[in-house]
Amino acid sequence: MEFIATLFKVTLPNYLQRLPIPTSLMGITNMTGQDLLQLLPVVGTLSLLAYVTYQAFKPKPAPKDTKVNLRIQKESSKVVNMVDIEELGDKVSYCRCWRSKKFPICDGSHNKHNEETGDNVGPLVLKRKEPLSMPK
Ligand code: FES
Repeated sequence: MEFIATLFKVTLPNYLQRLPIPTSLMGITNMTGQDLLQLLPVVGTLSLLAYVTYQAFKPKPAPKDTKVNLRIQKESSKVVNMVDIEELGDKVSYCRCWRSKKFPICDGSHNKHNEETGDNVGPLVLKRKEPLSMPK
């Protein structure tokens, strides 16, 4: 505790008193390189304190719209799509980005969405291992 008291009551005031702080704007032009070097730790510390204070109290950006579904069946409380598994065919792509104009089928709109947002979403592709055999 004695160390801290001495630091704030004696050491720090003596250090600050010895600093070559100019008393006018013109005084800055008369400062030597040695003077500027002596001010560097104080200026650095004050800059760091100002930066940390600004970071702590800077206004937070408003949260962006966190909704995934921006326009599909908005009148429904929940969007549910049912597909008869027998009608899937050999291959079908289902939209997972919620931007398709043919939802729930992918129409490639995810490419534009990915370009604009930097996202990386893509469709769910369902594919049969063996193509359906045509009835004879
Ligand atoms: S359009 Fe949505 S995943 Fe392709």
